Amino acid sequence: MSDPLGAFPRFPLAHVPTPLTEMKRLRASLGPSCPPLFIKRDDCTGLAGGGNKTRKLEFLIGEALAEGCDTIVTTGALQSNHARQTAAAAVAAGLRATLVLVDMVPYDGEKYRRSGNRLLDDILGADIHIIPPDGNPVAVFKELMADSAAKGRKAYFTPAGGSTVTGSFGYAAAYIEIADELAARGIGKSRIVHASSSGGTQAGLVVGHCMRPDGPAVHGINVYRLDADSMKADIAKLAAATAEKIGIAAPSADAILLEDGFVGPRYGVPTPEMVEAVELVAQTEGILLDPVYTGKGMAGFLSLIQRGAFAQDETQVFLHTGGMPGLFAYEDEFLRK
Ligand SMILES: Cc1ncc(COP(=O)(O)O)c(C=O)c1O
Repeated sequence: MSDPLGAFPRFPLAHVPTPLTEMKRLRASLGPSCPPLFIKRDDCTGLAGGGNKTRKLEFLIGEALAEGCDTIVTTGALQSNHARQTAAAAVAAGLRATLVLVDMVPYDGEKYRRSGNRLLDDILGADIHIIPPDGNPVAVFKELMADSAAKGRKAYFTPAGGSTVTGSFGYAAAYIEIADELAARGIGKSRIVHASSSGGTQAGLVVGHCMRPDGPAVHGINVYRLDADSMKADIAKLAAATAEKIGIAAPSADAILLEDGFVGPRYGVPTPEMVEAVELVAQTEGILLDPVYTGKGMAGFLSLIQRGAFAQDETQVFLHTGGMPGLFAYEDEFLRK
């Protein structure tokens, strides 16, 4: 069968396939009933620090170039990995990047507003607009798009997380990569577990599963919304729209597995379980997670393992979606004085 994603414009950015490695030491630390554990290193996708947005941006930048755009406008929290990677992808494609960063996370760590992704956005030369928590981002986008048009430019807008149908193609392609790698190693029954936020990663993976029904199950850990039901419904909608665009049947509603209980008080606010999970993986595997997404995602993953939620013969693949620069913005949580 020809690749249904081959029909869409794509700008090569990602270092793929990313490594798929076993986490033997983490597994040993979790006791004899722990199933086989792997990690898919999408923190190693390249592009100014890596992460899941590189795969989405291949399609988003591809579409922007195909539409003759010269500027990318996007948004996110102050420590957005998506914004940082968009800034880098724009540079790589010879485009301008305009970032609307919303100071929405109630976290007052000393470095939060100066370091991590925020610092990298400056180094990458992005045009940055910071708006307060009660600001109106939509009004700011409209103004920026109008300003761009008045200057004779053409801007391509992508929402937070790059979670559009086009962005989700990146994780439909990633799913096929993972399914092929597992099959080549003779691994059958398996599951991909990952941090889920704006939903494009999960929607793409679920569509990938529709394209390869014998591949791993997909299981998201909510790290974003306090209302998990509406988040699940939005992921299902995005997955259905993505499937339709590539001409396959929409996934069923029960294909969206979203584990709740690990966001903590709010998106971006540290939890003790996140800190424990980041330190455990660092100190058993030498792998750095992040405080906002993969740390909370791993906390959920460990809790599921400890509760015996997975069959012992089902191989678990934690998808490392990146975000490591965020550690520097949250140093107060980790620095041993
Ligand atoms: C490091 C990291 N992991 C996971 C996610 C979640 O991906 P998605 O927004 O596609 O759900 C993000 C999104 O920003 C991220 O930056």
